[in-house]
Amino acid sequence: MDKDQHIDALKACISDVTLDMDPHKMRQMGYQVIDTIVDHISGLKGRSPANFADPPTMKALLDEPMPEQPQTMEALLDTFKERVYPYAIHPDHPRFFGYFPCSGSIVGILADALASGTNFFAGHWYAGAGPSQVELVVLDWFKTMLGYPSEAGGLLVSGGSMANLTALTAARHNKLGERFDDGVLYLSEQSHASIDRAARVIGFRQDQIRYITVDETYRLDMNTLKQAVEADRKAGLRPFCVVANAGSTNTGAVDPIFDLAAFSMEQNLWLHVDAAYGGFGMLSDRGRHLLRGIDEADSITLDPHKWLYVPFEAGCLLCKDRKSLERTFTMHPEYLQDIDRDDNLVNFCDHGIQLTRSFRALKIWMTLKHYGIEKFQALVDQHLDLALLAKALFDQSPVLDVMVRPQLGVVCFRYIPETPVPDHMDRETYLQKLNEALVERIHRNGKALLSTTRLQNQYAIRFCPMNHRTTKEDVISTIAVLEQTGREVEKEMVSKWAGGQIGK
Ligand SMILES: Cc1ncc(COP(=O)(O)O)c(C=O)c1O
Repeated sequence: MDKDQHIDALKACISDVTLDMDPHKMRQMGYQVIDTIVDHISGLKGRSPANFADPPTMKALLDEPMPEQPQTMEALLDTFKERVYPYAIHPDHPRFFGYFPCSGSIVGILADALASGTNFFAGHWYAGAGPSQVELVVLDWFKTMLGYPSEAGGLLVSGGSMANLTALTAARHNKLGERFDDGVLYLSEQSHASIDRAARVIGFRQDQIRYITVDETYRLDMNTLKQAVEADRKAGLRPFCVVANAGSTNTGAVDPIFDLAAFSMEQNLWLHVDAAYGGFGMLSDRGRHLLRGIDEADSITLDPHKWLYVPFEAGCLLCKDRKSLERTFTMHPEYLQDIDRDDNLVNFCDHGIQLTRSFRALKIWMTLKHYGIEKFQALVDQHLDLALLAKALFDQSPVLDVMVRPQLGVVCFRYIPETPVPDHMDRETYLQKLNEALVERIHRNGKALLSTTRLQNQYAIRFCPMNHRTTKEDVISTIAVLEQTGREVEKEMVSKWAGGQIGK
């Protein structure tokens, strides 16, 4: 076969397979998807926010070999609606009070579809000047909100976990260099597990992490931190980084950031503030007061998919000195020689871990521009007020007991029975069983979604009213249901056991 014949043979066997279809068909499919989304949003209130299923159920519903036959979009959406949709909790439900509610707006959802549909690459300027500039604008808005200087930099990432990982990598690289087996990291014992995971991922041993105790308001204790740093220096180790919470996951506690900033400066420590939850509290006067000193931090994690009501996934890391990110992450592979390395532009692949990045900034940019910042300031204030309302209602209840004064929008409480604890039972064990049963009953009845944790080794229920769809009526009715359901559960338990007296 000569060269021409070879080329002809190749041409003959290539049939130009594509996944595209005619515009009318694509539009029709798009309308079906948008109908499904709008049905989801408008029907949320009437559904249960708590839908769980075990692995055998899900396997039976969905397990199949890789599909050989094509299916229509109608058939796929039917399968989605029947076999997938009913089996997930709804973090965007107005009575989702667990963890941190995440409730996207229709504008953010459509912008995400737009980013996906246009498939822009946001990894470097050369490939995406438009997307890069939009991301810079969004980062500038966040920098202004936080009081960060213009030389600060950052990037959008998948969420708080990735932002924390990026921050710790930068802290390690800038403070310790390439040899870090004597470096020591300090965090509050209330820090999010993504910090521990990040430390492990980047090669720190468990014995290089100090968990600093907290005071009765769950804020990191400065004296304990100072003593730990001093002891480590005396032992010849290299303290390099402190992580502060600006809204801890358990209780929403905000560490003494102002004092931490002064101490970190004095000790030449990198201060990272994990404000994944609380950062957008900066949009309110009350939040700004609590987060005083955050502008002194070397790096800050934000989660726009939490308190900025942007759909998953949207996290953000900001670094006070953009160069510290570039020093950590910049690579010069030969296959990227076309990209511009000019100092006046930003290549986001040099600010973090990902090269290929979706255009996450679009959903934040469009959401903020569509609604205007005042709407978000009002929402943040509203959620702080809803948490205060919840606390006042718990305080008024004879059986629902607030376990720690809320600082931002998380209220931790538990049900305390009015009837005696069974003689043979330890009080805490009994309270735990009662509260577990209460949460399970609330979920089973589809009334609300709550999550639980442990505070000073006591079982606690977390209540976080942070969804733009949550109304005061949702808070009031859920607390009434908690009280009533708690009493029912208590009655059933009492009929099982009997014993000594306890009360709130
Ligand atoms: C304080 C804090 N940091 C980090 C994270 C991790 O964020 P993500 O789940 O977005 O990765 C969370 C998650 O809730 C959090 O509450």
